[in-house]
Amino acid sequence: MAHDATLPLPRFKTASELRQFLDAQALMKEGFASGEGLPNPWEGPMEPGRNQPGQRVFRRGFVPTMGALHEGHLSLVRESARRSQQSVVSIFVNPTQFDRAEDLKRYPRTESADCAMLADTGCDAIWLPSVDEVYPHGPEVREHWDLARLDARMEGSHRPGHFAGVAQVVVLMLRAVQPDLLLLGQKDFQQFRILQRVVEQAELPVTVASCPIVRESDGLAMSSRNRLLDPVARRQATALSVALFAARERGRGVSPQALVEGVRQELANAEGITPEYAELVDVERLQPFADWPEADAVLCLAAWCGGVRLIDNVLLPA
Ligand code: PAJ
Repeated sequence: MAHDATLPLPRFKTASELRQFLDAQALMKEGFASGEGLPNPWEGPMEPGRNQPGQRVFRRGFVPTMGALHEGHLSLVRESARRSQQSVVSIFVNPTQFDRAEDLKRYPRTESADCAMLADTGCDAIWLPSVDEVYPHGPEVREHWDLARLDARMEGSHRPGHFAGVAQVVVLMLRAVQPDLLLLGQKDFQQFRILQRVVEQAELPVTVASCPIVRESDGLAMSSRNRLLDPVARRQATALSVALFAARERGRGVSPQALVEGVRQELANAEGITPEYAELVDVERLQPFADWPEADAVLCLAAWCGGVRLIDNVLLPA
């Protein structure tokens, strides 16, 4: 039973209303009605062999977002709908993950446009909780996860407390939505690795999947913060992906040090760009290396452009 795209999507403020709707809808959806609905792994042990790589059907996919949606977000929702019987999107600007009050204040909020954009993506329900709903005791980090030093570098070291806030809110939302598939973007590669680790540590019955970075036609990685760029900064911002693509082209033909140094130089010379970091790390531990590892590597950077902080990365496969 596909959602009629001419009707607004069901929206919910509270987790209990959302779950009630999802459970009722599940009973009516194709597959469920004929008794083929997948069991809820949150309610009992998972059958062995289910949700192995390559297997397509998940019961419920979940795409957490902070809104100001763009094609990058929508690609996650479409992937969820392709792989799951139900798909849920949350829109919540999470105050505990912002290290600068100014950034939280400026973060774009476009709720009604966001809901309209989700209309024909395969999304079944939108969760728009209030800060009080998510944090009845106040917006603070109360539940700490051991991030195994995956937060030691890059975003973790430049944005103190950021990943503690992300980990807490995502675990809290997973418990509320009870999905078996969590879809995240490679755009925030460190966030993806940290949430993989947290889901494992919390022993949640959820598969964590990463989806490729969606880019503008000139290479700029799509981001909610891009709409804060003025036209001049918007043009200058392409320097980030230009530097990353050039590095990917050189690849393992040069030493890791030479590759990172090249990117740092290129960014330092780019007009209107103030680089914050460029780091080359292995995808497992997110640590730099002297010699190319057998594992895949990822080249990550953060830079300021027109008063806006942007991040981007490219994978360098083994
Ligand atoms: P937000 O920045 O809104 O991103 C939501 C999801 O969309 C993340 O998984 C992110 O990696 C993905 N995404 C963003 N830009 C993308 C692009 N250009 N291509 C593909 N995917 C992209 O990340 C967050 O929100 C928050 O930290 C959150 C996980 C919701 C917790 O508050």
